[in-house]
Amino acid sequence: MGISGASGAPLAVETLRALRAVGVESHLVVSRSGELTLAQETGMTVKELESLAHTVYYNGDVGAAIASGTFRTMGMLVVPCSMKTAAGICSGYSDSLLLRSADVTLKEGRPLVLCARETPLSPIHLRNLYDLSRLGARVVPPMLTYYTNPRTAEDMTRHTVGKLLDQFGIVWAERTNWTGMAQSEEGGGRT
Ligand SMILES: Cc1cc2nc3c(=O)[nH]c(=O)nc-3n(C[C@H](O)[C@H](O)[C@H](O)COP(=O)(O)O)c2cc1C
Repeated sequence: MGISGASGAPLAVETLRALRAVGVESHLVVSRSGELTLAQETGMTVKELESLAHTVYYNGDVGAAIASGTFRTMGMLVVPCSMKTAAGICSGYSDSLLLRSADVTLKEGRPLVLCARETPLSPIHLRNLYDLSRLGARVVPPMLTYYTNPRTAEDMTRHTVGKLLDQFGIVWAERTNWTGMAQSEEGGGRT
């Protein structure tokens, strides 16, 4: 899992907690800007964040295990994914461990899930995200979602994290589970 410097550090924290809760081993690399947004948006220290991961790597360590395709993984999640990181992955410009790991994930044909976040999106951002989806990445932005009747930002966060984990077939108990409109003739509801 990579954390880059887009807004959305709480998504990264919740994702690490979820992976730990379901027993998935997480290997974490955080960009320098990711550390800045973590401080701004959560008040957590990098050490506190890192304590949630199974293994932590320095972003400058392009010789780390996750820099090689021979290190087997289920794939990679970049949450949040900045437009700079999206551009780096899209162009194959792998000058950091985070970018190299994403590059390797694509070349090995493993799932690469990008929780890409920016607004508004420029034509450059849209072109890169479109190209990335054509290249095999899954672009899963943290979209505001109202049909689940969220009460808090944490509810929205959990909803997005559930969508991210879905991409790997990971079952997480706190994921929103839509079973139809509460008032529908079929009698569905929310759980
Ligand atoms: C508080 C804060 C919020 C930011 N939010 C975003 C964002 O939502 N999307 C984005 O693409 N960049 C955002 N940026 C800018 C990136 O951090 C910046 O482009 C950085 O160079 C990205 O580097 P990285 O991709 O290596 O982490 C933000 C920066 C800060 C300080």
